[in-house]
Amino acid sequence: MITRALIAGCGGYLPERVVPNDRLGADLGIETSDAWIVERTGIRQRHIAAPQETASSMGAEAARQALERAGIGAEAVDAVILATATPDQAFPASAVRVQQALGITRGFAFDLSAACTGFVYALGMADALIRTGQARCVLVIGSEVFSRILDWTDRGTCVLFGDGAGAVVLTAGEGGGTAADRGLLSTHLHSDGRFGDILLVDGGPGSNGQCGKLRMAGREVFRHAVSKLAAVVDEALEANGLGHEDVRWLVPHQANRRIIDAMGKKLKLPAERVVVTVDRHANTSAASIPLALAEAAGAGLIERGDLVVMEAIGGGLTWGAALARF
Ligand code: UT7
Repeated sequence: MITRALIAGCGGYLPERVVPNDRLGADLGIETSDAWIVERTGIRQRHIAAPQETASSMGAEAARQALERAGIGAEAVDAVILATATPDQAFPASAVRVQQALGITRGFAFDLSAACTGFVYALGMADALIRTGQARCVLVIGSEVFSRILDWTDRGTCVLFGDGAGAVVLTAGEGGGTAADRGLLSTHLHSDGRFGDILLVDGGPGSNGQCGKLRMAGREVFRHAVSKLAAVVDEALEANGLGHEDVRWLVPHQANRRIIDAMGKKLKLPAERVVVTVDRHANTSAASIPLALAEAAGAGLIERGDLVVMEAIGGGLTWGAALARF
């Protein structure tokens, strides 16, 4: 028998304010159109955080829902890992603020920076903590307030992102060490700094204050996304002796509908097996996969035993995939 990290519960949080595409031009004076944004990205609207909301406050809300759905009390949490590119401040880590908001005074908490791949990286770290016996219950959160790092005069980027948070609770369980086990089967993480300048924030962190702005060479990132995501999904399946036919659900990073459709096609999955939220959430970076998971799991779509593929690419460049059996 080996120790596996089981997904015990998923939660999400979205700010109340919704901004549909057509308000970007009307209210913010951005030279764009609903037609352009829908055709190029599939995005129809995004949620925008209220002034008092931060990565930690939204992350805590998502974590509360994940714990509630798991039927686990906050006192059982050994570690909190919060993936974010928009922490409340440089330190304390926003993860420690989440710990405090949930009333957790033991264990440890830290932030993880891997841009849009942050949640997949955080799953990898949590999996390692659980497999090595350093923790039995880990809260993995992705929470982002990208509205504060967008250059609202750059129509090539500001229409693409939104705010939100998602969380999963991982708990230690046992498995036979085969791909039939429940829980995280494996994570596959990559980065290559040669591409650091095609997607970056040109200043320091601080979702509750002054910070740098996001810059992206969209077409170049798109090109990397299609090839690198396809390769890392193959790598994950091969590592577990699995094929496309074994995949029940694709829960991809939600950056662009065209990239998501290409990945679904690659896995030969029917459209209803690909979880899509980009139309309503836009790109919420590290929050996009846990938000999509929370939506699909909350609606009872993902069933016990289903094999789920998660994949993401983001600034760094970083990219990765995780395979989990629910
Ligand atoms: O989450 C991290 C990973 N990120 C991604 O995966 C994003 C990857 N990239 C993309 O999704 C796409 O490249 C974008 C959606 C960012 C852009 O789509 P595109 O088809 O690559 O468009 P483009 O940047 O090549 O721009 C095409 C045209 C340009 O006009 P010209 O030069 O052809 O006259 C842009 O100026 O569209 C124009 N444009 C816009 N027009 C209306 C750019 N942004 C807008 C806009 N509204 N918001």
